[in-house]
Amino acid sequence: MNAAMFNIFRYCSRLRYLLLCRQCLISVFLLCILVYATFRVKLSNDYKNAQVFYKTQQSICNNNLNQNQNRTKIILFWTKLFKRKADENYINNYFFTSSGRCGTNQCRVTNNRDELCASDAIIFHARGPINMNDMPTKRLPHQRYVLLIKEPPYKTTAIVGHLNYFFNWTATYRTDSDINYQYFYWRRKAKPTNETSQKSYLKNRQARAASMISNCYSQSNREGYLQRLNSIIPVTHVGYCSGTKCHKSREICLSQLAETHPFYLSFENSLCRDYATEKYANVIINNQMIPIIFSQTPNLYIPNSYIDANQFSSPEALGQFLRQLTLNTTMYDSYFKWKDEYDLIIPGPDDYLCDLCKKLNNPNEPYKVYDSMKKWLYNDAKCQRWVSKLNKTIDIPVDESMDYEEPWF
Ligand SMILES: *[C@@H]1O[C@H](CO)[C@@H](O)[C@H](O)[C@H]1NC(C)=O
Ligand SMILES: *[C@@H]1O[C@H](CO)[C@@H](O)[C@H](O)[C@H]1NC(C)=O
Ligand SMILES: *[C@@H]1O[C@H](CO)[C@@H](O)[C@H](O)[C@H]1NC(C)=O
Ligand SMILES: *[C@@H]1O[C@H](CO)[C@@H](O)[C@H](O)[C@H]1NC(C)=O
Ligand SMILES: *[C@@H]1O[C@H](CO)[C@@H](O)[C@H](O)[C@H]1NC(C)=O
Repeated sequence: MNAAMFNIFRYCSRLRYLLLCRQCLISVFLLCILVYATFRVKLSNDYKNAQVFYKTQQSICNNNLNQNQNRTKIILFWTKLFKRKADENYINNYFFTSSGRCGTNQCRVTNNRDELCASDAIIFHARGPINMNDMPTKRLPHQRYVLLIKEPPYKTTAIVGHLNYFFNWTATYRTDSDINYQYFYWRRKAKPTNETSQKSYLKNRQARAASMISNCYSQSNREGYLQRLNSIIPVTHVGYCSGTKCHKSREICLSQLAETHPFYLSFENSLCRDYATEKYANVIINNQMIPIIFSQTPNLYIPNSYIDANQFSSPEALGQFLRQLTLNTTMYDSYFKWKDEYDLIIPGPDDYLCDLCKKLNNPNEPYKVYDSMKKWLYNDAKCQRWVSKLNKTIDIPVDESMDYEEPWF
């Protein structure tokens, strides 16, 4: 009797906790909605504010600006670069000395906002982040506001697309940026060499393609494409999405894959104009596999160094072509001949500062301002997605590209 009572009592108290819990779940749920709504309102206020922000800025820096054209130009980092501050000592010592990487001491970088009025360029990194509550309130007409970003549009915080009449220059991977911030570029050798003529690259490898991917659901839907390609030739995935991570250095991982794979899939997570990254460059440096790209702008890549999936009617057609290539050494090897004629150049992560410094010291640089960032950053990027049932790419609506925001919590 006692035991049964006790059990009933225990059951009831558990029920009570459950009921209590339901109330607390509902409260948490309502709280979430409230917080979400508050942030949405704040965000849309920010966007409105951003579009007319330039009207609130004042030019009231009166501290006897040094007008001498020859004075050292000051470059101020207004934001961080992702989570960290720019290393001003390192940059000033290794870039901006007469014998330094930029070959000039005519510039200096700083993180110190007290130097705002004395600055010639102010850098905003799009994932700094840029925060409308934390903007310079003073602005002088000769100052250049520079947008710095190496990410594709959907990873560029949406606030940037609302900052009209704000930026004077852009430093991005896009070739129409004012300042060169590309992942790589190439140039013709002054004197062609003959080093590839005696080499054979295929080495009995069977038709297989390798990939290293950490972003499992890409904006370009490369995973959909690769799934179809896999029906013709085996596609090996290494990385976060397949649960088979390679823990060694990138160079060693690539070389290991190259032992059994004659092709490497250098598809980007975003299929946007000019977006070409180290996914291609690393394979070119490794020099053992042919990179397969999917691109709107193939002229960014070294001629005859790649296969462009965009030139094939379907993944199956590409797969058949890759099979053919592995049956003909002469044809396969022809994709490595570029090395006799071209050089691949990979700029250092801070090399854009040399370009910026040069422009700041050029008195003939014209005034310039980006009136609509939305147009430049999103419309002009022309991002696309591959649609499996159509065998082709379609345009992604601009608003969909803009939706990305920093996590709120
Ligand atoms: C700036 O430097 C150039 C070349 O060094 C020199 O010719 C010119 O006189 C200088 N201008 C001023 C205002 O100091
Ligand atoms: C390169 O080597 C091949 C074969 O050894 C030779 O026929 C050709 O003339 C050479 N080309 C140049 C530019 O040296
Ligand atoms: C390999 O391809 C080359 C160039 O397209 C061609 O001339 C040659 O006949 C092919 N060889 C074989 C064995 O099919
Ligand atoms: C930079 O942009 C601002 C804002 O639109 C503009 O007022 C200023 O004239 C521009 N300055 C230069 C040097 O281009
Ligand atoms: C896409 O390509 C596949 C394989 O070549 C073909 O079977 C299919 O009919 C194609 N679809 C369209 C819509 O062209």
